[in-house]
Amino acid sequence: MNFHHKKTVRDIDVNNKKVLVRCDFNVPHNEKTGEILDDTRIAASLPTIRYLLDKGASVILCSHFGRPKGVWLEEFSLSIAGAHLQELLGQPVTLTKDVLGEDCKRAANELQSGEILLIENLRFRPEEEANDPNFSKELASLADYLVFDAFGVAHRKHASTYGVSNYLPCVAGLLVEKELDIMGRALTEPKRPLTAILGGSKVSDKIGVILNLLNIADTIIIGGGMSYTFQCAKGGTIGNSLVETDRIDFARDMLALAKEKNVEILLPIDDLAANEFSSNATPVLVDSMNIPDNLMGLDIGPKTIDLFSNSIKQSSTVIWNGPMGVFEFASFSNGTRAVAQTLANMNEAITIIGGGDSASAIEQMGYASKMTHISTGGGASLKFLEGQSLPGIACLQDIT
Ligand code: 3PG
Repeated sequence: MNFHHKKTVRDIDVNNKKVLVRCDFNVPHNEKTGEILDDTRIAASLPTIRYLLDKGASVILCSHFGRPKGVWLEEFSLSIAGAHLQELLGQPVTLTKDVLGEDCKRAANELQSGEILLIENLRFRPEEEANDPNFSKELASLADYLVFDAFGVAHRKHASTYGVSNYLPCVAGLLVEKELDIMGRALTEPKRPLTAILGGSKVSDKIGVILNLLNIADTIIIGGGMSYTFQCAKGGTIGNSLVETDRIDFARDMLALAKEKNVEILLPIDDLAANEFSSNATPVLVDSMNIPDNLMGLDIGPKTIDLFSNSIKQSSTVIWNGPMGVFEFASFSNGTRAVAQTLANMNEAITIIGGGDSASAIEQMGYASKMTHISTGGGASLKFLEGQSLPGIACLQDIT
């Protein structure tokens, strides 16, 4: 059963049709060498591309890469992503020399069934992010359908994610279908108990997510930098730890609301702190409500790991967004690793990683294959967890 009402690539006949596929090839890369550091998003686009090729379509791929802000900058070329895709698919992927210029239009026009064309970085043209109607129309003129498979950019109202739908029938690709099905089900009809684990540095980034999850989750676990604002709200002393003073009242309100709604909120009870924000700093174990003045909390401590892990193990669905500490520093990565490990060992539960830093942590720590789903969206999955409508999804054709 689908947990969304959008048509997908399975609902259209693409044989001998030109199909424009909006992908998100915005992959982490080394800015000097261009080397791809994590190819998850490229690999995740393969099922849709293969499906379309199998069904006899000519496939015209398009994507953004970085933020070149409407200017042609060679370091933001899709050439490396295209070469990588070519390798993964084992067939030629031709990169256009312009974006909707003569070369792009001619190549799209001449493209045969079973062939693949990749349009250069859409953000080389300012019209893309401006959601320019003429640009959208020209993009649409290349194909018979648009298949939207760029979940990571679904929260943007750009020409290729939104405007194009005014001129071309748009349906979801298999990656977007999977994101909507798994995350949609977890939010609307979860296998309970549902636990949300929230981390990362700022409460302000997660306000909408907390508000929405307070209506859905049974337990909310809060770790990482944002936990210190909550400790302040409870009257704790947090030393030099990260705090958003203007969010303390919000945190206090959320703790009260959770009580009202019978949602359990778990906060750290011990932390690993240091006297400086440095990978060489020596971890000091402290009580989370009583951190000495000269120290800042940088990771959750062992008692908290037990507390969080025991609660996570009782869950049937877990949604995780945001690391538990500064996992980039080896001495402060234990909390994030322990949570990842706990999730990895939960064979029966549905485990969903809501993109961004927690997805990178899971990849780096080698647990990716153990999760039910790792979202390819960063900002987009946050918006989804907030319960907001995403423009790139809203404009897709509905199942009638
Ligand atoms: C992402 O990396 O989150 C997406 O590709 C969106 O990129 P953007 O934030 O530059 O729009």
